[in-house]
Amino acid sequence: MKNEGPIIIPIASGKGGVGKTVISVNLSFALAQLGKKTILIDLDFGGANIHTCLGYDIAPDGIGNFLNEKRIHLSEYLLTTDHKNLTFIPGDAEMVGIANITNPQKKKLINQILALEADYIVLDLGAGSTFNTIDFFMTSSFGVIVAMPELTSILNAYALLKNTIFRLLYVNLKKYPELKPVFDVHLQNGGEAAWKISEILDKIFEIDPEIHAEAASIIDSFSSKIIINMAYKPKDVAMGERLRKIAKSYIGIEMEYLGFLYRDKIVEQSIAARTPLAIFAQDSQTFQTILRMAYKIVNARKLPYFILDIDNYEDSLEILLEEATDDLVSRIEGYEKLADENLLTVNELISIVKNLEYETLTYKKRIQELEGELIKYRK
Ligand SMILES: Nc1ncnc2c1ncn2[C@@H]1O[C@H](COP(=O)(O)OP(=O)(O)OP(=O)(O)O)[C@@H](O)[C@H]1O
Ligand SMILES: [Mg+2]
Repeated sequence: MKNEGPIIIPIASGKGGVGKTVISVNLSFALAQLGKKTILIDLDFGGANIHTCLGYDIAPDGIGNFLNEKRIHLSEYLLTTDHKNLTFIPGDAEMVGIANITNPQKKKLINQILALEADYIVLDLGAGSTFNTIDFFMTSSFGVIVAMPELTSILNAYALLKNTIFRLLYVNLKKYPELKPVFDVHLQNGGEAAWKISEILDKIFEIDPEIHAEAASIIDSFSSKIIINMAYKPKDVAMGERLRKIAKSYIGIEMEYLGFLYRDKIVEQSIAARTPLAIFAQDSQTFQTILRMAYKIVNARKLPYFILDIDNYEDSLEILLEEATDDLVSRIEGYEKLADENLLTVNELISIVKNLEYETLTYKKRIQELEGELIKYRK
């Protein structure tokens, strides 16, 4: 990890279909709108589809061709988009068999990505815990994990984080032969085994306290952000909280909540129109929320690593709660408009208002609970 050059924002998820591509594309447009030179790269090996979201009928040359050494420099594959600050590199849609790339290919690709000229480089990754995903995810402390507000999605996200930390430790510490037995046991157990990172750290400490200190600082330098996508109700915020807590107690890493998006029909409409929300529905609540995430990234206090201590975390939680309330208010305004235009009956409006009142109550309760937890945490 280096302190200069572009800031890499890898977007990953434990399971597929949670909205990584939608978020990668629109977050890239949002960063571009904020005046940042941004590059979007499709790194979903075997499932590349950003070109489709951007309206291309045929997959243009991209990462697959680069790996097959058609052209020397990755920058030769950059394509323009509808925003002057945003360029993109397509994936491997036409390249059968590229799903398993070799280590030298990966190294070459990572080096060339880091050498691109940009403020931000957004990587749309494939789902799950394959090495292809993890190795790109751990190139940065600005990684984002997208999850849906359901338990399986949260647990898959947790598995991805755990595997990432294990791989980070393995890659950085395998130079010490005395650790081989520790890593061998866990490699044999596979990614889903019930081990904790703390157990690995304990074993390393028994072998050599100095290497243990190095391991701890590797974990400290890593952080990752959460986006909960396709939420139905404000209390779905709690699912992101759950992931944050599990990550803290079982893996020992701090996660920051980057944002919270509701399930919104406009997203499907923009996909059908093959036009990003940033152009198709600039004023939609969903794009405005993604724009807010871009603001948070651009205004991150601790550049370039963005690792938050608990004080910063409290800020981010409070801001998040305010945002979710704002979003609820703008939903009510949206319904009022529909009623004005006679698109909703009085009965429908009454039932919607009742539902929203219930959501607001649940939401207020959750704020109180979270405030209580923060007070406990401070003690
Ligand atoms: N906020 C949202 N509201 C409504 N629908 C959404 C939202 N986000 C994503 N979707 C829907 O979910 C589908 C999957 O989204 P997307 O392709 O971005 O997921 P993905 O994580 O990139 O999937 P994959 O793992 O297959 O690459 C989209 O086709 C879209 O219809
Ligand atoms: Mg995708």
